[in-house]
Amino acid sequence: MGGVDAVIRRGTITGYGFTEGLIPGSEVAGTVTAVGADVDRAWLGRRVWAFTGGTGGYVEHAVVQAAEVVALPEELSSIDAVAFGSSAPVAHFALAHAHFVPGESVLVRGAAGSIGIAAVELAARGGASAVAVTTSSAERGSRLRDLGATHVLDRSGSGDPDAPASFDVIIDIVGGMDTPEFLDRLAPNGRLVLAGAVAGFPAADFGARLLSTFQQSRSVATFSLDTVPTPARDAVRDELFAAAVRGELHAVVHDVLPLAQAAEAHRQMDAGTVFGRIVLVP
Ligand SMILES: NC(=O)c1ccc[n+]([C@@H]2O[C@H](COP(=O)([O-])OP(=O)(O)OC[C@H]3O[C@@H](n4cnc5c(N)ncnc54)[C@H](OP(=O)(O)O)[C@@H]3O)[C@@H](O)[C@H]2O)c1
Repeated sequence: MGGVDAVIRRGTITGYGFTEGLIPGSEVAGTVTAVGADVDRAWLGRRVWAFTGGTGGYVEHAVVQAAEVVALPEELSSIDAVAFGSSAPVAHFALAHAHFVPGESVLVRGAAGSIGIAAVELAARGGASAVAVTTSSAERGSRLRDLGATHVLDRSGSGDPDAPASFDVIIDIVGGMDTPEFLDRLAPNGRLVLAGAVAGFPAADFGARLLSTFQQSRSVATFSLDTVPTPARDAVRDELFAAAVRGELHAVVHDVLPLAQAAEAHRQMDAGTVFGRIVLVP
């Protein structure tokens, strides 16, 4: 389960058509037990990760489109795969959407979730000159340093006098009313990519902040994985799973709980105590 499930349950993004009665969750990992008539039977018995989309992932048996299934390497557990099978591609493509190149400085806002952790690791591995993070405690900051962060900031973006004053790239997973404050932290030609809405959406007039610094040539973009064609997503997911097997990326599993305790998992997410992801198992 991911932060997106909490955001949907809270009603933050009801505008996107999520209605009462929806089965939460959008990804699963496990073994293929049946295939459709026109699907290669070689999938039977294989361990896979799959995107369930609107049909829901908090289930014992999931039905998914064959195109949304990726075979898992033997060395990668289903628990690890489901902890970052969706969030690591979001981080990868959000960095690409920001046109991140080696040598640039990156700030990840909301780094303690699974998308943020992957963004930190990918930016560090990708040769960022600095990888700053926002987080709510020193303990979480220390864990993020272990994953590649070079500067730990508080949620307002302060707290480390040695951190760069501005950044080439900001991956903002939090959004909400404070996003405009972070526009001011963009370097000239800097790019902020809004990849999440943990705290909701920014005020509708947040672009005014951008216009007030017109001469800095800053940009803001939204990013949704939905705009990446499925074959490209699957190819990158494959690469990221292989990177995890090589130990270059880490699935950070906060806890593994039985499916029946999904409500408890959501309570923990609402309490802000989760670092990485909780994985539900049948
Ligand atoms: N772009 C896409 O394609 C895509 C795909 C899937 C999901 N999403 C979006 O990604 C988000 C979930 O990502 P996630 O699971 O990685 O995040 P998450 O775990 O829900 O949250 C990430 C971190 O944000 C910090 N945070 C929480 N509330 C905050 C606040 N009010 N102000 C500042 N920081 C706050 C918390 O860390 P600290 O306590 O350490 O600050 C939290 O651990 C959702 O909004 C979802 O819609 C986007």
